[in-house]
Amino acid sequence: MNSPVRTPKKLHIKTYGCQMNVYDSERMADILRPLGYEMAETSDDADLVVLNTCHIREKASEKVYSEIGRLKEQRGEKEARGGGRMTIAIAGCVAQAEGQEIMNRAPAVDLVVGPQAYHQLPELIARTTRMKGERLAADFAPDAKFDALTAERTVTGPTAFLTVQEGCDKFCTFCVVPYTRGAEWSRPVASILEEAKALAAKGVREVTLLGQNVNAYNGTGGDGQPSTLAKLMYALAEIDGIDRLRYTTSHPNDMGDDLIAAHGGLAALMPYLHLPVQSGSDKILRAMNRKHGRAAYIDLIGRIKAARPDLALSGDFIVGFPGETDKDFDDTLDLVRTVGYASAFTFKYSPRPGTPAASMPNQVPEAVMDDRLQRLNALIVEQQQAFKETLVGQVLPVLFEKRGRYGRQAIGRSPYLQSVFVEDADHLMGQIVPVRITALGNNSLQGALLAPVEA
Ligand code: SAH
Ligand code: SF4
Ligand code: F3S
Repeated sequence: MNSPVRTPKKLHIKTYGCQMNVYDSERMADILRPLGYEMAETSDDADLVVLNTCHIREKASEKVYSEIGRLKEQRGEKEARGGGRMTIAIAGCVAQAEGQEIMNRAPAVDLVVGPQAYHQLPELIARTTRMKGERLAADFAPDAKFDALTAERTVTGPTAFLTVQEGCDKFCTFCVVPYTRGAEWSRPVASILEEAKALAAKGVREVTLLGQNVNAYNGTGGDGQPSTLAKLMYALAEIDGIDRLRYTTSHPNDMGDDLIAAHGGLAALMPYLHLPVQSGSDKILRAMNRKHGRAAYIDLIGRIKAARPDLALSGDFIVGFPGETDKDFDDTLDLVRTVGYASAFTFKYSPRPGTPAASMPNQVPEAVMDDRLQRLNALIVEQQQAFKETLVGQVLPVLFEKRGRYGRQAIGRSPYLQSVFVEDADHLMGQIVPVRITALGNNSLQGALLAPVEA
């Protein structure tokens, strides 16, 4: 049997990339905690440092190598102080895509662990400490991962991520995710419900369901049949304490009718949807292998808004995909004007090794991409501001998450994912309370309680 390890060891995890990496980092900490690892804020004194990496754009993945260089220096200093050894582990999507290359290029790295192999971490660390055996684990076996991730979750507030689906079969021609996260795979309903119940018992009120293509969810339900995401969310909303649900990220082609209907019928589902379209040009959408056109996307948004008129949207856009002309880019601006976004992420196209788009002709010059990005961002900022202005004067249910910096100020979360700063509300942590929005902050809203509220 396992006997508890007595000496506390320090673990530092640095997370890059998407929310799924945030979730995975939390789960890695959960697996390592029974082995005596406690979280450390900084890496300089850590016994184990995990870089949970992202491969999505060149900048993201190149960061890893400079970070490894920095850690190598810290390791030297730590050992010189007599502080013992620092183990350096590389996890995440760069580990999956370039595992062997990392080992060759950065000998300071002790072990490399892909996103589906985190449950092997204790064993890999033990082996590394003994300085022998294999140091690379990068298989695709998500079921084994989730079976083994039974360690208790540590909860830090009333909101939490919960991964329900991993991987992607869509193969957009620009994207590495199908290669780093493998094929689409959904967790069984029962294991998700169990994790959500445990979260609720620890005070979580709002759960964001995660998946690379979360709306392609088709995990096995209690009846042995595949469940849809909508069905799963109705079951989650039954759990005592789970008052708010969100899901991200979705593909337009997987918005089933029952999911659209859930936006109208399921009160717990927040009126905020991240639904990337990438481009407004049919020609570019085809070249991206998105398998949907501009009109289909706009029509889809119309149908979801018919179910939930106060729905606010966010999206992802890529500018400068190979072959994108001024006209194609204008089509993107036009789509943004037609749809109207409360927020959006915008990226310059970054060629990724091994993806079809990287070898397409007519790569767009950097200066052109810069100009387009700037123009798109200006439009998005305008829309974001206009959206926030519509909220001033409204009363919104706010979930209080943490204390503010001043006095009895508290910071909560609006249905539209904005931070809301409210005075005299620090007794309301974990509660959902109506707040009148009074003013706009920089990246936030200010609000006031309608009347003093009892704790
Ligand atoms: N469906 C995924 C998308 C992951 S990538 C999810 O679960 O979030 C997030 C966004 O990064 C994409 O929507 C796309 O807009 C952007 N992106 C992906 N590959 C890119 C590339 N090669 N260059 C620039 N942006 C890219
Ligand atoms: Fe990447 Fe496209 Fe899959 Fe999203 S749907 S993860 S952009 S391949
Ligand atoms: Fe990055 Fe992997 Fe997420 S490439 S965006 S960390 S799925």
